[in-house]
Amino acid sequence: MEYQITQESLEQITAGIRNKYSRVADSPQGQFKYSTGRAGLEVLQYDADLIDNLPDDVAASYCGVGNPFSLGVIHKGATVLDIGCGAGVDTILAAMMTGPEGKAIGVDIVPEMLQRAEANLRLTDLKNVTFHSATGEHLPFPDDHFDVVISNGVINLIPDKDAAVREILRVMKAGGHLMIGDQVMAAGGTPKSLKDRLSNWFQ
Ligand SMILES: C[S@@+](CC[C@H](N)C(=O)[O-])C[C@H]1O[C@@H](n2cnc3c(N)ncnc32)[C@H](O)[C@@H]1O
Repeated sequence: MEYQITQESLEQITAGIRNKYSRVADSPQGQFKYSTGRAGLEVLQYDADLIDNLPDDVAASYCGVGNPFSLGVIHKGATVLDIGCGAGVDTILAAMMTGPEGKAIGVDIVPEMLQRAEANLRLTDLKNVTFHSATGEHLPFPDDHFDVVISNGVINLIPDKDAAVREILRVMKAGGHLMIGDQVMAAGGTPKSLKDRLSNWFQ
């Protein structure tokens, strides 16, 4: 079913995302229908050796819906972009995989999430991670820049998914890898009215 999303709806979605994720930045516990924190990382079978090396406060802020790293290998020296990095757990894990010869960059639209990501980063000794304020619909990076683009539970939140995919393809090098964890609603489960759909946007 096609919906015409109005400017008013877009503003409502953005305000809802900022409202929800400013609270998630404190703690994701109890904010989602799925496991978060270290339990979420374990359920999604993240690499045990890597997550053992995450400080507890960093692991506690994880709120991804899937495991992007189950889709391929991140090689030493790779340049990785994490779209909608949240508190930065996936970005930090990606930076551990690239090693100091590579780097990982996270972007998000919610200031509180980026502050938590910076605080998490300070709990590690990684020097190859940066976080930036940006939307997945307009990425502030040149063409053909990244070896790998990851994203976890974010594309479903972005209203203009065509723009998000165009931007991913633009900033990713030819032959680069896209590794996305996300959630979709089964056909038939989508609410009929746009109003109901907006109230379901951040489950
Ligand atoms: C499920 S969380 C990401 C979890 C994160 N990967 C982790 O390691 O815990 C989704 C994130 O997407 C961000 N987000 C939502 N819409 C966005 C957009 N248009 N552009 C960039 N980030 C967005 C939210 O602010 C939130 O931090």
